[in-house]
Amino acid sequence: MDEFRIGLIGCGGIAHRHINGYRAIAHDLGTVVAGCDPNSGTLDKFSDQYELSHRFSDTKDLIESGEVNVIALLTPPAVRADVIFPAIEKGIHILIEKPFAENLADAESFVEAAEQAGTVLAVNQQLRFMPDVIALRDIIESDEIGSPRVITHDQFQNRTQFGGWRTEEQRLEISIFSIHLLDRIRSLMGKSPTAVSTVTRAWSPFAKGETLTALTIQFGDECVGTMVSSWHALTQTECRLRIDGTKGSAQSLKGLVVHDPATLTVHSLNGEPRTIDCFEENAFVNAMGKSMNHLLHAARMGTQPPHNGRDNLETMQIVDAAYLSAERGGALVTIEEVKNIK
Ligand SMILES: NC(=O)c1ccc[n+]([C@@H]2O[C@H](COP(=O)([O-])OP(=O)(O)OC[C@H]3O[C@@H](n4cnc5c(N)ncnc54)[C@H](O)[C@@H]3O)[C@@H](O)[C@H]2O)c1
Repeated sequence: MDEFRIGLIGCGGIAHRHINGYRAIAHDLGTVVAGCDPNSGTLDKFSDQYELSHRFSDTKDLIESGEVNVIALLTPPAVRADVIFPAIEKGIHILIEKPFAENLADAESFVEAAEQAGTVLAVNQQLRFMPDVIALRDIIESDEIGSPRVITHDQFQNRTQFGGWRTEEQRLEISIFSIHLLDRIRSLMGKSPTAVSTVTRAWSPFAKGETLTALTIQFGDECVGTMVSSWHALTQTECRLRIDGTKGSAQSLKGLVVHDPATLTVHSLNGEPRTIDCFEENAFVNAMGKSMNHLLHAARMGTQPPHNGRDNLETMQIVDAAYLSAERGGALVTIEEVKNIK
């Protein structure tokens, strides 16, 4: 039997990407054995399609069943505490879809509970594990472009049509999409954020939350991250991730952040410009598998995965600071301020 038996909580859209990613990448360490969803049609269709041996309509029954020792929590953002605390009490390791929580204070409480129990919590910011970002991380670590000073990450997409729970979210664009871009800026910068200023607009006629974000993150006095994320780019979709360091620059360009092909260009002051082709078939799905693989490996070794819950608190700090700044019309909000909101 495999070391880890995985249960999926939430069998909706993203669950298909997860199970396919795990089966492609993480199969040596774990197997999905159970699905859980209160929607019986969704649960049965999913469990039949992937031939799962156990199915549950209630999260408590799955957690109590003893059938799983790892959970992937793939539900809308409101479903977090009711699953995370009981699962931690049972010693179950958890991969939580982004956003980690509805606010920083909740995320902190999850991290504290997991650390006390000795279970592994990771947050599925899997877009860190896309091939262009892995290549950019290697370029930074090799010192080819020196230390990052400015990281600019923009995505222009046509996401004007969406439905379901997303239309009800007060925290929309930042919390459920550009949180990925913020997490990438922060992890590539390798420094803690200190202050954020943000402008948002809610341009969708049928959604409660924002659909455009323009944001600046300060990392101390020296380094700066910027991000523009628009769901209203009707044509010419584009995703750019650019790093300017003390010795040169590197940039990934692609149609959308989830696409397989990416063109990476690197030019250090001491070298010739070079281009790296970062194509990986099924990169988005594979990144889900890499994300689970990191968690399972850490659980086996008694270590922490790179996207662990405590690490994600800094991403959640940026998110909370961004919403507070937007509420204040774009005024600068320090991370110290949001850390002290309980
Ligand atoms: N990492 C990524 O790239 C990525 C992409 C899309 C969505 N997501 C995240 O995945 C999560 C789910 O998004 P989705 O697009 O799959 O939504 P979805 O609406 O397609 O699916 C959510 C499923 O959760 C189920 N559910 C609701 N309450 C539940 C409960 N208490 N217990 C068990 N199941 C429950 C619903 O019945 C539904 O089937 C969100 O947090 C979203 O932000 C992440």
